[in-house]
Amino acid sequence: MEKSILQLQQEIDGFEILDAPQLEAFKLEFTVRKGKIAGLFAQLKTVDPADRPRIGQLLNALKLSGDTKVGEAEERLAQSAPASQPSIDLSLPGRRTFCGSEHPVQKVLGDMKRIFNAMGFSIATGPELELDEYNFDLLNFPPNHPARDMQDTFFITRGQSEGDVLLRTHTSPVQVRVMLDQKPPIRVICPGKVYRNEAISARSYCVFHQLEGLYIDKNVSFADLKATIYSFARQMFGTDVKLRFRPSFFPFTEPSAEVDVTCYLCGGKGCRVCKKSGWLEIMGCGMVHPNVMRNCGIDPEEWTGYAFGMGVDRTTLLRYKIDDIRLLFENDVRMLSQFSA
Ligand code: DAH
Repeated sequence: MEKSILQLQQEIDGFEILDAPQLEAFKLEFTVRKGKIAGLFAQLKTVDPADRPRIGQLLNALKLSGDTKVGEAEERLAQSAPASQPSIDLSLPGRRTFCGSEHPVQKVLGDMKRIFNAMGFSIATGPELELDEYNFDLLNFPPNHPARDMQDTFFITRGQSEGDVLLRTHTSPVQVRVMLDQKPPIRVICPGKVYRNEAISARSYCVFHQLEGLYIDKNVSFADLKATIYSFARQMFGTDVKLRFRPSFFPFTEPSAEVDVTCYLCGGKGCRVCKKSGWLEIMGCGMVHPNVMRNCGIDPEEWTGYAFGMGVDRTTLLRYKIDDIRLLFENDVRMLSQFSA
């Protein structure tokens, strides 16, 4: 028995543990419940009772050296291989990554841009923080026009030498910037956000989106404007929409008109949305006023042009049957995630 103990001690001492599999093999061979050390313990009962205490001590020392070797090896391996290889549980269900979606207003704007791009309009942008001069003066607004009123316009600074700074109330100042910047022929659309100091309700908000159009060339006529709007409306609202041009007034166009389409919700029969009229107003438009052309260095004797401006948010609300404009600006993912592709 003593010989077996000595032999096993030599085996244990000679066993090299350099990595986790070797440690596992060592434990299996020596220290587990059915390992070699336990095997010798089982033989203790066959030893002469007089020798048992001594042999028992030897066995205990053998077991201790096996356990110590395991403990040391575990510590060493834990140090040399820190948590660089995290254990991965491949049976766990995957985690869904959050995927954003295009905002409904951007979807509608995208459709509008595609339609006009196909007709040869390129895209121009301008600042949302605008000078009074571009937002009003150069667009032929008289000095005391009610639209300049504090009620409507968010002024940022007033009475500064470079002029009043405000949040643009429409996308029309981009027309001015393009005309000052480019020589005709000009064919652009200007999409963007605009701001008005209005009472906030389900139908109106202090910020909304417009899409402006401007076309300047030789011999542009109101008929060209009508044809363009017709083509746009058919692609945007359906091939059987009808249009109605109503005379109107804007300081920057002459003549001016507002355009209605037959209500595409009730097909023109009259419903709650079109207030039983069968018509929905979609835009303002007209022939660019000669004063605006002159203000921007373009000779109105040589060039003529048309302009139009439309709201984007109302069309979005109608298309997606959303009943409160504020939902478009709250950026609540519970609402936005319903518009993922
Ligand atoms: N700027 C106008 C508004 O905000 C909309 C508009 C009307 C734009 C007629 C135009 C236009 O370019 O010709 O109400």
